[in-house]
Amino acid sequence: MTTVLPPERLDEAVAALADGELVAFPTETVYGLGADAGRSDAVAQIFAAKGRPVGHPLIVHISDLANLDRYAARVTPQALALAEAFWPGPLTLVVDRTDAVAPETTGGLGTVALRVPDQPVAMELLERFGGGIAAPSANRFGSVSPTTARHVVDDLGDVVNIVLDGGRSAIGVESTIVDVSGTGEASGGAPVLLRPGGISTVELEFVVGPILDGRSGPARASGMLASHYAPRAVVTVVDDQADLRRALTAAMTDDPTNGETVGVMAPIAVDHEPAWKLPADAGGYAAELYATFRDADREGVDRLVVLPPSDGRLLDAVLDRLHKAAAPR
Ligand code: TXA
Ligand code: MG
Repeated sequence: MTTVLPPERLDEAVAALADGELVAFPTETVYGLGADAGRSDAVAQIFAAKGRPVGHPLIVHISDLANLDRYAARVTPQALALAEAFWPGPLTLVVDRTDAVAPETTGGLGTVALRVPDQPVAMELLERFGGGIAAPSANRFGSVSPTTARHVVDDLGDVVNIVLDGGRSAIGVESTIVDVSGTGEASGGAPVLLRPGGISTVELEFVVGPILDGRSGPARASGMLASHYAPRAVVTVVDDQADLRRALTAAMTDDPTNGETVGVMAPIAVDHEPAWKLPADAGGYAAELYATFRDADREGVDRLVVLPPSDGRLLDAVLDRLHKAAAPR
């Protein structure tokens, strides 16, 4: 049985982590499935619960910048500049690791992904626990990330005993991941973007200069795999309103799609049932994206036609998630 704990019962979550147990907790991006990053036995439970292949490295959440040296063996000038500018916040930095993290946490890699979340309940949890908390998104491998405690219970209720409730995740898409270990292939020491997210490339470049796009190489981050952020419904991303109309007409009249439910998600009102109207700004759109995917699945939508937002600082992150959701499975 899962217990959903209100923030006032945070002590119970701290005690569970100290006992090597799993605790799902809120962050400003998405909910995480946490365990003591220093304990192999604790971290092993994360992989088992998610059905995630062992060997996929996890993000280690830390309480503040002052803890960076405990987990990072080497802090490059770019790493420090980015951490100072964006922590706490939705930015994950990949750096050379120390032995303070269990080998399983980093999937055997010599680097570790670190982040200080900007969410009051998460911050208090980290402070009171006193160590790093390894946590991937608290969903089953391959399904969309949870942005409420309810989503976590829906996905992992049979395998996680404690879900700490901190309300809805404000940002709604995962953190930006940047490799600042200075060893990124062919990077010549420049930071390498591994996943777009809650901090835009423009913001990063303002602090450290040019960032290389590392998304085209071999998939190094599990979030880089196509079809990683997909709902059950088959997703089609369209370019504009005319394209949306065409896709809808095609989906409704195509023989093979007869009897299927076609849904629409768009930043405009569309005369169709069922349709979800999301905010026009990419930030607002991001905040509702995963919950809308879940709604569409619950309503039995077989095909979801999606019009992206056209503007906003989180546009890259939203387009990335939409195109992954639309990728062939
Ligand atoms: O916003 C977020 O980042 C959320 C919240 C819970 O913090 N977490 C999250 O975790 O999205 P997850 O496990 O779903 O994605 C973590 C990503 C994966 O794509 C993983 O491959 C990458 O981080 N990663 C972790 N350690 C890495 C490393 N040492 N080098 C390269 N990529 C790494
Ligand atoms: Mg994930």
